[in-house]
Amino acid sequence: MIIRKAFFLLFFPLFAFQFLWSTSFSEQFKRTGYIEICNNEHSAATFDSLYAYFDELIEFLQTNPLWTQKLYIAKERFIRSKERSYYSTDVFGFYDESERKERSQISFYYSTHFHEFICSHYPEFKQVPEIISFFEACFEIQKPCGNLFSEAAVDLGIEIFSSKYGYPPILFKVIKYLPSYSATRPHYDGVAFSLFLDSTDNQSLLLSPYKSLFTIDDFSSPPREFSKNQSSILLIPGTLLTEFSIYPTPHIVAQSGKIRYATIAFAMRPNYTPQKIEFSSLPTFKS
Ligand SMILES: [Fe+2]
Repeated sequence: MIIRKAFFLLFFPLFAFQFLWSTSFSEQFKRTGYIEICNNEHSAATFDSLYAYFDELIEFLQTNPLWTQKLYIAKERFIRSKERSYYSTDVFGFYDESERKERSQISFYYSTHFHEFICSHYPEFKQVPEIISFFEACFEIQKPCGNLFSEAAVDLGIEIFSSKYGYPPILFKVIKYLPSYSATRPHYDGVAFSLFLDSTDNQSLLLSPYKSLFTIDDFSSPPREFSKNQSSILLIPGTLLTEFSIYPTPHIVAQSGKIRYATIAFAMRPNYTPQKIEFSSLPTFKS
């Protein structure tokens, strides 16, 4: 098998994501459900510090409900602003599901427009280091992902990101799974692409290429081709590309009994109303 390696040196000379693949993105998605990419852009320390900022944010919001409320109000205003249509979703901000036994997770959905909106409409947020340090860390990490999503769209021959902004809408998610987290069923992401940028436990992420019929044995942790000192990230398609005959990759984060942090960048579709499509039903995992 001929392995083709390519470096994409795009707008920034120092920016590089390294792809490792033998066929087109489309073939690769059909065959394995994902594309592995070497992340030369972000170091492990970058994510360690992101998760430290996230813990500080969680602690701050859990002990200052007034700020949690303020953030929620800002989000409600943001999803009524014109920037919302660029992302075609209402999911932004802080979701604390630590007390919901079946969920046991805490997430933040960040976007640059949400960040700007908060800073311009609620300047008092800039005085809260626990919030603003986390936002700034998210801003830096999500930056190179736009180029990668654009490259993926070019390789697949799909024009989905054209907008007045000229770059793909990125919804950037940081998540903390608590030890009591358990999962019973895989899911599809309602996005164009999901990019699994980092996690503190890669083995827990199980996925399968799309099929007409699934069993739990179809799901496994993708073997990583890149060596340990280079971080390996995975790109999978979501549910918003079916008009191009690209079907979503179902996945599940299996229970590990430990705290697990993860970072995912989602490419959304500007001004898009998802079609109602029935995808193959997904099997139940015993917990
Ligand atoms: Fe997902």
